[in-house]
Amino acid sequence: MTTLFTPVKVGPYTLSHRVALAPLTRMRSEAGDVPGNLMAEYYAQRASEGGLLIAEATPVSVRGNGYLGAPGIYADTQIAGWKRVANAVHAKGARIFLQLYHSGRQSHSDLQPGGAAPLAPSAIAFDGRAHTKDGWQSATPPRAMTLEDIEIAIDEFRAAAVRAQTAGFDGVEIHGANGYLVDQFLQDGSNRRTDAYGGSRENRARFLLDVTAAAASVFGGERVGVRIAPGGTFGGMADSDPAATFAHAARELNGFGLAWLHVIEPRVAGGQEVAEGAHAVAARALRAHFHGPIVAAGGFTPETAAAIVEAGDADLVAFGRHFIANPDLPHRIRHGLALNAYDRSTFYGGDHRGYTDYPAVPETVAS
Ligand code: FNR
Repeated sequence: MTTLFTPVKVGPYTLSHRVALAPLTRMRSEAGDVPGNLMAEYYAQRASEGGLLIAEATPVSVRGNGYLGAPGIYADTQIAGWKRVANAVHAKGARIFLQLYHSGRQSHSDLQPGGAAPLAPSAIAFDGRAHTKDGWQSATPPRAMTLEDIEIAIDEFRAAAVRAQTAGFDGVEIHGANGYLVDQFLQDGSNRRTDAYGGSRENRARFLLDVTAAAASVFGGERVGVRIAPGGTFGGMADSDPAATFAHAARELNGFGLAWLHVIEPRVAGGQEVAEGAHAVAARALRAHFHGPIVAAGGFTPETAAAIVEAGDADLVAFGRHFIANPDLPHRIRHGLALNAYDRSTFYGGDHRGYTDYPAVPETVAS
């Protein structure tokens, strides 16, 4: 038994192990961007007694969607669907946080109300794709947000947190990673503003801190996590001094008494390995600045996950792709069992195939 299977406290919750489900966009919602029974089954399969699940990136606004088929939390009609998910997970004795996100420039006008341009800190186009009714299409060049747009977006995060609370989530995670709106403000490659939300790293961190405060005003800081990707390149991200930018953000986040800081190692970009930054350093570097629990993610194996926790550089490890393919991943890791291989072709969208049909280890083999 490794330290992955010792209790850990996040916010007010004591978890019995440290193998968490990373937030994973799977684009399996029903009409109206509402989670249905299929999603409830998927999350329940991955819930284990005393475990932690972080549910997929969920737009806080209709303007914040970059992936058709992603479930939302921007309308009251979406609450009942999420309740089904939260109840199914709680019935298995696990905790579940909802990841709140806004796609910003990683969107397309077809996904926007009235066919408008997506919003971003600055009018700098994203050289990537969004998922629309016509499939994957190049993102539409964004419009720079006014101060009023920013106020509205912060309020959308607050309202989404209220809905998440009504749905029964144990907390929320702010998606500050992977080149979505919060990250677009944070890193200077996508933020050329000259007002209070741009320029210095203090100003670029303001939007992250404002949306974190909005969520904390609903749940209390101890039921809010924040996810960041220092040095991450997914979403066309770049920063002139990532070490300083993210150290500053981590230090400022201390003020909220957060459930966790979730750090994606720069060896992955989105859901793929990248050549640069092959070493797990981001979590270790931020340990010096952030005083609460750290969740590490990105390219971990059962062995490297145990090692980073044993080294004291992280408190939990979130798994993405292995958890997609292994609904009983904590059980398999605990008992040193083989892992199913994942099928990338069914990651995004589709039906139950590649979603709820990965087999768990039969009980008889497990004991
Ligand atoms: C992701 N990732 C991701 N990250 C995030 O913060 N919110 C999300 O909704 C998603 N969606 C998503 C979908 C899919 C299909 C993949 C593969 C990845 C990134 C994910 O949480 C994780 O950081 C990476 O997958 C790296 O971890 P693994 O897969 O190496 O354990």
